[in-house]
Amino acid sequence: MAPETLPANALSTVTDQPNTEHASPSQGPVKRRSFLKGLGVVGAALSTGSLLTAISEAQGRNDIITVGDVAILRFLAAAEILETDLWQQYNELGGVQDSEVPGGSGSRLYTKALEVLDGDMPQYIHDNTEDEMTHELFINAYLVSKGAEPVSLDPFRTLPSSQATGAQQIGRLTNLMQLSVDTTWYTRYRSRTGNPDLGDTFPQAIPSIGTGQHPAIPRTDDDVQADPSKPHHISDLTQAIANTAGFHFATIEQGGTSLYPQVAQRVTSLEVLRIVLSLGGTEICHFQTWSDKAGNSPQLSVVDPVTGSTVTFPDLNSPPLGGEDFQTNLIMPEPTAFLNRNLPACSIIRPTATKGAAMGALKAFTAGGLFIGQSPQFFKFMRTLAIEADLAVRQ
Ligand SMILES: [Fe+2]
Ligand SMILES: [Fe+2]
Repeated sequence: MAPETLPANALSTVTDQPNTEHASPSQGPVKRRSFLKGLGVVGAALSTGSLLTAISEAQGRNDIITVGDVAILRFLAAAEILETDLWQQYNELGGVQDSEVPGGSGSRLYTKALEVLDGDMPQYIHDNTEDEMTHELFINAYLVSKGAEPVSLDPFRTLPSSQATGAQQIGRLTNLMQLSVDTTWYTRYRSRTGNPDLGDTFPQAIPSIGTGQHPAIPRTDDDVQADPSKPHHISDLTQAIANTAGFHFATIEQGGTSLYPQVAQRVTSLEVLRIVLSLGGTEICHFQTWSDKAGNSPQLSVVDPVTGSTVTFPDLNSPPLGGEDFQTNLIMPEPTAFLNRNLPACSIIRPTATKGAAMGALKAFTAGGLFIGQSPQFFKFMRTLAIEADLAVRQ
């Protein structure tokens, strides 16, 4: 791998230290060591060959992790930092701002519009936010405990905050105001025959937010003006923004629901496997919660005065969806094809194919508009983490 594809902090680690102890520079031990800083004797001084031997001897022990494990954990740490950043924005405007998840002061009508989907939405937003914060902190602390480099995205906190009352004015990593929300999870998890791992594709549940650029948080107070003609004075525009958020919550969390089992298949250390399975399980909790709420989005159609595009939330219990498999109160995966269509249908997470999982997650985040406005350096850094994670193999 070319040095320029390494994370910036990994490069700094390399240049900090002489590399004269490496027997064969062509084998790339210097680059490997960038992920192994402080892995005791193993990471600091051994060649690639003896490193593999040491790793082999250490199988079953929990005091060592492989280069691949580190790469997977580093990508997951970055993904969790990004999740924390976006959930923090949701919590500031539509969640519960308290000592557990501080920051912001809420947007009254946006919060009310979210509560139309479920009265507990602010609490769930708060809890999802706190969960992501703990995922981020835990993975980075674990990396440090193993002598590996933690991940920081702080240099990339450059995107603007919402200008609506209630949002903190700080630099952000993600953009929730120009989203293209992929709602195919809604039809994918209701399909009894299709599986993306077998090449199947699925229609958008809400086509109008799948293209274009739509806010999922109020951009300014103009987006949360009271409409006395509507229940609770919630305007159609405000409700459309809350509905968009309601679907986006599930879009994000179904991504984590797949990402963790996808990368789990390539970790080596049993302890890292335990971490991946344990954190991944809470992503599933999140997804199922949001899966239940999105279906409660009120029907409406409104023109966004900022973008000029029409946003429509249809009756999902009617054609082209509708029927038992598509009713809005389904929150559990319908059984579907798994591994081989000759095997019986099974209720499963999908997709779970491991090849290219990290880059796939990064591409999905990017296609959804989350990084609109981000710098080329950000994309380079994230792509590097994804490539390294996808090169990891189980040993
Ligand atoms: Fe998470
Ligand atoms: Fe998550």
